[in-house]
Amino acid sequence: MRANSPDPVHDSVTTEERVATLLARMTLTEKVGQLTLLNASEDDAPKSLGDRLRAGLVGGLLNQVDVEVVNELQRIAVEESRLGIPLMVGRDVIHGFRTIMPIPLGQAATWNRELVRAGARAAALEAAAAGINWTFAPMVDISRDPRWGRIAESFGECVVLTSELAIAMVQGFQGNDLSQPGSIAACAKHFAAYGAAESGRDYATTDVSETELRNVYLPPFKAAVDAGVASLMPSFSDLNGVPASANEFLLRQVLRDEWNFPGFVVSDWDSIRQLQVHGLTENDRESAFQAANAGVDMEMAGDAYSQHLAGLVEAGRISLKAIDAAVSNVLRAKFHLGLFEHATTSVAESRPVASEEALATARSLALQSVVLLKNDHGALPLSIDGLNSVAVIGPLADAPYEQLGTWIFDGDPGLSVTPLSAIQDLVGERVEVRYVRAMENSRSQANEAFDEAAAIAKDADVAVLFLGEESILSGEAHSRADIDLPGDQAQLVRRIRATGTPVIGVILAGRPLTLTNVVDHLDALLFAWHPGTMGGPAIADLLFGVESPSGKLPATFPRVVGQIPVYYSQKNTGKPPSNDTVVHIDAIDTYAPQTSLGMTAFHLDTHFTPLFPFGHGLSYARFEYRNIRTTAHEIRLGDAVTVSAELTNSGAVAADEVVQLYVRDLVGSITRPVRELKAFLRVRLAAGQTMTVDFELHTDDLAFYGRDGQLATEAGEFHLWIGGSSETDLRTELRIVSGN
Ligand code: NOJ
Repeated sequence: MRANSPDPVHDSVTTEERVATLLARMTLTEKVGQLTLLNASEDDAPKSLGDRLRAGLVGGLLNQVDVEVVNELQRIAVEESRLGIPLMVGRDVIHGFRTIMPIPLGQAATWNRELVRAGARAAALEAAAAGINWTFAPMVDISRDPRWGRIAESFGECVVLTSELAIAMVQGFQGNDLSQPGSIAACAKHFAAYGAAESGRDYATTDVSETELRNVYLPPFKAAVDAGVASLMPSFSDLNGVPASANEFLLRQVLRDEWNFPGFVVSDWDSIRQLQVHGLTENDRESAFQAANAGVDMEMAGDAYSQHLAGLVEAGRISLKAIDAAVSNVLRAKFHLGLFEHATTSVAESRPVASEEALATARSLALQSVVLLKNDHGALPLSIDGLNSVAVIGPLADAPYEQLGTWIFDGDPGLSVTPLSAIQDLVGERVEVRYVRAMENSRSQANEAFDEAAAIAKDADVAVLFLGEESILSGEAHSRADIDLPGDQAQLVRRIRATGTPVIGVILAGRPLTLTNVVDHLDALLFAWHPGTMGGPAIADLLFGVESPSGKLPATFPRVVGQIPVYYSQKNTGKPPSNDTVVHIDAIDTYAPQTSLGMTAFHLDTHFTPLFPFGHGLSYARFEYRNIRTTAHEIRLGDAVTVSAELTNSGAVAADEVVQLYVRDLVGSITRPVRELKAFLRVRLAAGQTMTVDFELHTDDLAFYGRDGQLATEAGEFHLWIGGSSETDLRTELRIVSGN
């Protein structure tokens, strides 16, 4: 497969010894070289970067995916540089390489660790075949603001769901052994609280208290670190006044001192030089100083380190010991990846085409990611035998590129199976399928084609509208202030509704949307995120009941944008609203003296609840939960209890259900969320089947950083719920008493 590199340090026993042996032979210039990650996207990279590679001035490259070019770059580094150190070769392999899986937010909607792991594995295999040995994923930023375009890349709003899927993705990319073919190094990003950007504008300021950081934003990173993630990337943002790329609290105290992270830290793109733009430093030299001092090992696509680190060492401002530590972190990853043994990739076997297995994984992920948000009077599933004709309408019914979503540098839209073609395939001759795109793209405001769309809808037994967002409307620096369906889509919905034909909505999008103005005009609504290469067949199977929808929301859907942030684990406040708290703003008497309108934490112009809560997702089966119980009502700190409930599928079809366990800690040294997910399990039940679902809950699972800043479980009363969404009311209680 890969050519051997001549490397005199082979014989050393442990990785640490190999690192130390190599380090001892390096000049300061070569050391700084290992901390330099350069863009190599141009085809002539071997020529333009060759001299720097030969001089040992480069530790890694990114954005080159032509395996022959990558091999040549590796060959130069290994054979023509003094020490023959191979390169990290990075790429944003975010949700697939050639075969595109659903966006990470869609993958989170599966609540399926094994599938998420399999999706990352498939992506790693395809990327590794192109010479990539490192991906900048997973993104494990908790995100509670759907305006933020990068919510698409996240696993949503929940600490536990995000942490679990972070582990799954790291395992998928890295495999059991990084040195095995097909394993690539992962990178947990963006450390930390990047998703808390003010007003959902990408890169905007974040200001998060230390307890909130530790209880909400840091745990997914800790989970990734514990799962052995090879690298970590600080965020672009300013966190509490200190941009993450210079934040020694994050990068030294938390990451190294508390978590003992043995991997390496890579900056985000040019983020070290941006410290000056933030107003933290006066020039690149000071930026290099602050970043290195804080613990950024490698600089991505900037030249602050290459220009200034050596000088800072010579001036005595940065110790050689600190440089050695950073270089060791990078070299360690290269040894773990086995790059010193195999730097290049076999071209013959390397053509990254989508395998049957990758396509099957993409299809399963898409199938399980789709959330049935509403289904009035059993409007879904459609019956092939019961229908003569279907009108397929909308800008996303047949848009091979758009269904892939954001961050698909290497994705092949030619592989996409669109919903339109999958529906045609599934129904064959039995049902007439007529199609009108109706809008050029999701943002169009031209509605000349609406007449034609309404005409086919009127003549059909059912109209299926494929709506949503094109891929360009989400992702990095693609935030939106208004998250309604863009363009004239709401008008299209009303127009089709007016035909009297039943209307099914299928939304493909990169974020939760505010759907208040369309939801009542749809008989049923499937939310498919950007479902990837195999989105079409998955959606067709769900529409026609080949399978039941089983996705559950990983993020809350607001009614209106002004509710944001709205998430299930909010605090109670001192004045919580109750379900009957609704004020009709129009009914307020303008001339009345100021009076009490309930004096609780709600908006005057909308209900305080979201449109669809976290964890929500309907099924064609009918799931009933009953008899929640614990093996003990009282346990001691340090003990565990089993929490169980019975689940019955009283519907007519077999289906998957995602069972969710929530807790509330009633009294704490700091206020606690009204609900926190603690565990979840995807199960399959045949029609008529009943099963008992058990969750083991240890008192450590209830620990949080309290008023004294320490991680601990506080004794007291807890409420426990089991159910199919965060709004389940099937509850029991548990008392935890201290050990003495
Ligand atoms: C900037 C993004 O913030 C980061 O997530 C990505 O990995 C790098 N660019 C490299 O493309």
